Amino acid sequence: MFSARTYTARRRRLAEAVSSGLILLPANGEAHMNYHGNTYPFRQDSNFRYFCGYNCPNLVLTVDAATGEGTLYGDDFTLDDIVWMGEQPQVADLAKDCSMTYGGSLEKLRSDLAKANEVHYLPPYRESRRERLRDWVGHCDQPSVPLIRGVVAQRSIKTEKEIAEMDKAVFTSMRMHAAARDTAKTGMTEASVAGLIEGIAISAGGRLAYPAIVTRNGHILHNHYHGNELKRGDLLLVDAGAETETGYAGDITRTFPIGGNLSDKQRPIYETVEMAKVQCIRALRPGVPYRDIHDLSARIITEGLKDLGLMKGDIGEAVAAGAHALFYPHGLGHMIGLDVHDMEDLGEDYVGYDNTVQRSDQFGTRNLRLGRRLQAGFTITVEPGIYFIPRLIDQWKADGLHKDFINYDALEDYRNFGGIRLEDNVVITEDNCRVLGSV
Ligand code: GLY
Ligand code: MN
Ligand code: MN
Repeated sequence: MFSARTYTARRRRLAEAVSSGLILLPANGEAHMNYHGNTYPFRQDSNFRYFCGYNCPNLVLTVDAATGEGTLYGDDFTLDDIVWMGEQPQVADLAKDCSMTYGGSLEKLRSDLAKANEVHYLPPYRESRRERLRDWVGHCDQPSVPLIRGVVAQRSIKTEKEIAEMDKAVFTSMRMHAAARDTAKTGMTEASVAGLIEGIAISAGGRLAYPAIVTRNGHILHNHYHGNELKRGDLLLVDAGAETETGYAGDITRTFPIGGNLSDKQRPIYETVEMAKVQCIRALRPGVPYRDIHDLSARIITEGLKDLGLMKGDIGEAVAAGAHALFYPHGLGHMIGLDVHDMEDLGEDYVGYDNTVQRSDQFGTRNLRLGRRLQAGFTITVEPGIYFIPRLIDQWKADGLHKDFINYDALEDYRNFGGIRLEDNVVITEDNCRVLGSV
C-alpha cells in the first residue's frame, strides 16, 4: 500500500474528472471453487485497489464527485468469522487509516445509493458484480464513460513508486525464467517447469500474474496444457509473470531449445523475433503511436521470413495487406500495471485507442490492444512472435489468401515448427524508454 495521501489525491483527481454524482467502486468478493468455505485465491479489483489500496474482499468505496470525499462501506467480520480467520480489521479503522469517512454496512450503502441522483460505475466483469449492481442501482449495463475515461487517464501514467513495484514484478519474473531455463531438460514434463515457476512467484511474496504458459507447442498462443514430455530439440515457450504483493504484474516470454542449441532451422526465426523486439524497443519514445511500432515489428518479421523464402514480394505492401498475420496474428503489446492487460476490464479501446489512432479491423492487427501515442509513464509490453499454425496455414492456402506474398510450398517444411515469442516490459521515459527489471 502507498500512503493515505496518495489515495486521497487519486480520489480527488478522479472526482474532478467525473465532476458530479456518486462514484461507486466495489471491491471484489470471494469466488467459490465449490462449497462456500473453499474459495479461489482472492484477487482484488484493481480499480478499487488503485483508489484506496486495500486488498480485502467485500468493501465498497464511494467517491463524491463534487467534493472528492471518499467513503468506505463494509460489513465487519463476526466472531464466528474471526474464529476461522483470526483477527480482522474493522471497516471504520480501514476508512480512517486511508483518510476516508466510514459509511456503515452494505445495507446502509444500499439505502445511500437509493438516495443518490446519479451513480457512476465501471463495466462489471464478474456476474456477482452484475447482480450487486442490479440490486443497488437497478441496472448493470450503463457504465459511466466519464468514470472510465477518468480512471484510464490516471492509471495509464505510472508514478515512480508504481514503477518501482513493476521493476520488482519483472525482477521476480526474470528469476522464474532463469530457473525454467536452467532446469528444463529432456524427459521432464511441461508441468514440472510450470510448478517450479509458480513456486518462485509465491515465494517472492506474491503469485503468478496470470496462468503460466509453458509449452512445446508455442504456436498455440495461449496454451495452458502442461501435460507434454519435453524432447531434445523442442522449443519451449514460457510466458509467465509474477504479481507482487502490492498487485503489480510482470509479463515476460522467453523461448529456448531443450537439450542443446537452436537448430539451423530455428536460429533464423529466433533471430528475426529477437531483432523485432530489440528494434521496436529502440524506437519507443513519447509521442510515437504504438501502432507504428507494431507495424515496424510486422515489417521486420516479414523481412526475416522473406529471407528464408517463406514470404515474397514488397515488404511494405505485404504488411499493409496483412499477409504477415499468418505468422504473427497478434499485436505487439499492451499496457501492463495492476492488471497484466492493464485496465482491459474498462474496454480495450478506451485504454489503447483515441480519436487520432483507431483500431484496425484487419485479421491480426485488430488484436493490437494498444495503438495510441505513447506518453512518459506508460508501462507496456513488447512481444513479437512468429508462429506456424497448421490449421491457419491450411485455411489461407485453401482460400488462396495473399498468394503474392506467401510461399505456401516452402511452408510445408515448417508445419511442425511450433512458435517463438519474446516479451519484455518497458516504461516510457521522458526521452525514450527503459526495460523494466533492468537498471
Ligand atoms: N501473457 C499474456 C500476454 O502476453 O499478453
Ligand atoms: Mn505474456
Ligand atoms: Mn503480454
